[in-house]
Amino acid sequence: EPGDPVNPLDLAPVIPVVVIDDVSTAVPLARALVAGGLPVIEVTLRTPVALDAIERIAAEVPQAVVGAGTVRTRAEVTDARNAGSRFLVSPGCTPRLVSAALGSGLAFLPGVATVSEAMSLLEEGITEMKFFPAEAAGGVPFLKSIGGPLPQVRFCPTGGVRLATAPDYLALPNVACVGGTWLTPAEALKTGDYARIEALAAEAAALRP
Ligand code: 3PG
Repeated sequence: EPGDPVNPLDLAPVIPVVVIDDVSTAVPLARALVAGGLPVIEVTLRTPVALDAIERIAAEVPQAVVGAGTVRTRAEVTDARNAGSRFLVSPGCTPRLVSAALGSGLAFLPGVATVSEAMSLLEEGITEMKFFPAEAAGGVPFLKSIGGPLPQVRFCPTGGVRLATAPDYLALPNVACVGGTWLTPAEALKTGDYARIEALAAEAAALRP
């Protein structure tokens, strides 16, 4: 139900990160992801129609849990919440953004790429984080290393993760799920190939049977 608390990390092995250019694709793409077995959808606030897309998915695809990604400012926290986002994802974790996101009452997945950033978030009581940009910032070896000193953090590595590399991340004890854009190729959205998106989602959902 909208309004119920959700933890986007616990719903599927993969969080699809989507960039929506044409708002008319929002509902069919959300339906395709859900049909493939991925109920979580992170709509990045990188296009002018992103908030409208979140609103439509929230209204028309009740089986989906839609959130906003690429949240960078206080204003975006408010806009994302008003559009019906169930959770917020950010690429980084400035103190101002963290306080706004915590104040929103929504689930919040802040991005970190260093040990100090993770420690700062732990000081705020946050134990679930996006590791971004995962491949560029150290990938699987980084997460293995940080699991020693900070075992209480659960990560969603995102950034350069693909179907072929997801299993190595998912095998780590401190990885809850991974995120990525590979499920919704721009070409499939352009041509309305939702069967392809559903097939990619099904493949990803099967990463953790
Ligand atoms: C993000 O913001 O999470 C990244 O852009 C993910 O993109 P990628 O899966 O294409 O690396």
